[in-house]
Amino acid sequence: MQSIPGGVGLGLRYSFAEEVLNKEDSPRWFEIAPENWMRRGGFFRKTLERIRERFPIVCHGLSLSIGSPDPINREFLKELKDFLDSFHIEVYSEHLSFSSLGGSYLHDLFPLPFIEDTVKRVSRKVAEVEEILERPLILENISYYWKPPGEMEEWKFINSVLEESGARLLLDVNNVYVNSLNHGYDPYEFIERLDLSKVAYIHVAGHERFDRIVIDTHGAPVIEEVYRLLEFTLERTGPVPILLERDNNVPPYEELLSEVRRLEEVCGAKRAG
Ligand SMILES: [Fe+2]
Repeated sequence: MQSIPGGVGLGLRYSFAEEVLNKEDSPRWFEIAPENWMRRGGFFRKTLERIRERFPIVCHGLSLSIGSPDPINREFLKELKDFLDSFHIEVYSEHLSFSSLGGSYLHDLFPLPFIEDTVKRVSRKVAEVEEILERPLILENISYYWKPPGEMEEWKFINSVLEESGARLLLDVNNVYVNSLNHGYDPYEFIERLDLSKVAYIHVAGHERFDRIVIDTHGAPVIEEVYRLLEFTLERTGPVPILLERDNNVPPYEELLSEVRRLEEVCGAKRAG
């Protein structure tokens, strides 16, 4: 497996894709949602080709629905494999969740019941996906707003899936923080209980507070508490790649680059001990 590039990457958005090619300053690598690019031709494909010539790219999918009782969509995966092959992208991550049921796509990510049956089902599907894609699958912990019934804690569920499936973890530190507020637990304890030896890379993002709920909107800068949780995590994982996600209220590219620089400082400081 091609390893994820080191340092800090940025989620690529259409709004600044062209600017990436015209600027000296840039992040070390980019992450894209393949669903946003794989059926696009013309200008979009050309731009992505040019970006790929200069930067490593990893894919973070949206619609795999790995935990659904529905069968895996093999047609979609074949199309995805062609896309990954054509851009020489080896790293693919997805959400540990479901987003389809009874053949209908729900356009959102829903949490899975934290039970042994789900661990087994997800693990079987991970093997199926990896066989079709000929690449390992990395799974991300999601944010969720309703706690599914279950027989185990979420951290135990995640560890069990990683162990049974052999998948590595995309640890979204902001999702841990948002869930800790909405579901009332200690995010530091949660991180300590995860099997951090399996972390492939880390996501950070911004969120927004509403009346009684905190929503993982990816529409605001990363807040100080999430930086602190990230530092705490890096002290335990050692240096791992970090990706800044920003999907809504996307600010000028310059502003995102300054957040990337700050994250690099955090990584650099941790690396220096
Ligand atoms: Fe994420």
